[in-house]
Amino acid sequence: MTTNGERSVSAVIAGDARWCVVGGDSLDALRALPDGCVDAIVSDPPYASTGDAASVMKSRDGASAVPREVQFYEAWAREHLREWVRVLKPAGAAWFTCDWRGAMAFDLAAHKLRIKSPVVGVWDRGGLGMGHILRKTWEAFVVVPMLGFERKAADVPDLWRVEWTVAQRGHEHAAEKPEALFRKAVRLVSDPDAVILDPFAGSGTTGPAALAEGRRVILIERDDEYRDICARRCAASVTGTNWRKPEQGALGGIL
Ligand SMILES: C[S@@+](CC[C@H](N)C(=O)[O-])C[C@H]1O[C@@H](n2cnc3c(N)ncnc32)[C@H](O)[C@@H]1O
Repeated sequence: MTTNGERSVSAVIAGDARWCVVGGDSLDALRALPDGCVDAIVSDPPYASTGDAASVMKSRDGASAVPREVQFYEAWAREHLREWVRVLKPAGAAWFTCDWRGAMAFDLAAHKLRIKSPVVGVWDRGGLGMGHILRKTWEAFVVVPMLGFERKAADVPDLWRVEWTVAQRGHEHAAEKPEALFRKAVRLVSDPDAVILDPFAGSGTTGPAALAEGRRVILIERDDEYRDICARRCAASVTGTNWRKPEQGALGGIL
């Protein structure tokens, strides 16, 4: 495991650093974490189905087809969810984006792991996305509460409108998500100064979102380039500078 934020996971957990970025495979990195060390997970894992022709598994006679990923996605989801439950505190919760197939897979995985049933919400992105019969405007998100989780507010609806059109994206990552969405998620599942974990950080949107909400954050990402962006975004968030101009803020923006 490598870190790319000058401070280690243990420094973040102890409160001696506000963020760190961990490299390598997510499951390997998770397995190196102690039990019950994070307050919440806020993430954007790989989705269940790409929907393209290559992801479809046809029957021999070609008469029926099943999305290939869905065949395996529940087992994959269960393996990750098991580790998330282990690293979460008993009053913690996980929040993550997914598509509707993914929501169903995580629901089944939670049932098999005998943890509390997930709650599913809708993120209305605004604008018109891809689609033949219906053009896409929404994605799902899932909340998995641990047994001791207590809600932070009583009036949060399950439909979130956070506009995210192509023009608003920074183009750092094909699956980049808006900071405003992740800030809402951070508030939903954690209290101030909580330790937030993102096991699939991508360009690290969870980093600035968690830091802006006064939380500490551990990001895991296997891709070197994205990890570098994660570190720059976290450092800039702490120093209040523009991450695209590294001369303005030293990497490793620590407490
Ligand atoms: C959907 S993207 C996250 C995008 C992020 N929310 C953002 O705003 O940029 C998921 C990320 O997970 C990473 N990833 C996928 N599988 C992984 C694994 N097994 N271990 C570590 N990282 C992984 C990918 O490299 C990708 O960058």
